[in-house]
Amino acid sequence: MIYNPVIMYRVFFIIAYNAVKSINKTFIPLTQPFFFIPASTIITIKLMDRKEFLSLLGFGSASVALTSCLGGCSKNVSSGTASPSGVDFTLDLSQPANAALLTNGGYVYNSGVIVAKTMAGAYIAVQQVCTHESVSVIYQGGNQRFYCNGHGATFSESGAVTGGPAPRGLQTYNTSLTANSLRIYS
Ligand code: FES
Repeated sequence: MIYNPVIMYRVFFIIAYNAVKSINKTFIPLTQPFFFIPASTIITIKLMDRKEFLSLLGFGSASVALTSCLGGCSKNVSSGTASPSGVDFTLDLSQPANAALLTNGGYVYNSGVIVAKTMAGAYIAVQQVCTHESVSVIYQGGNQRFYCNGHGATFSESGAVTGGPAPRGLQTYNTSLTANSLRIYS
């Protein structure tokens, strides 16, 4: 039996074309010009997107969501306790680590608490992390507020929500200054 190579190629191409068309997946007809395919059968090239590709490999939507976050979803999320309880510690203001508290508008973090010195010279303390998604807040003395870089939440110096998506205020703590010792406590 003699096999005509042209016919064999056409048969192979028709089989391959129908297989690809039936599953509607990626196909690049590099050989199409050589087989005189009628215009009515022009193949639609459909590049597979990532979701389809992962689905084809057997991964579910959860896997797709996970891979979507790889390398791109990290935030400045603190590992500290959201709202520390039983707080009671003392800062030595003569220590370099606490020097920021000698200046009005300065602040430091310690034990999940942000301790700040207001523009009026008072010491205030609230929980370090935002009540929205636990990003560390900063103190903005000039605006008399705490501010979250995460999504723009703002809090008054007494911890109340004044703007942004934060669902509740910041836990506040007491302060007491004796000489160079600043005590922060629940
Ligand atoms: S984490 Fe603070 S506003 Fe979103």
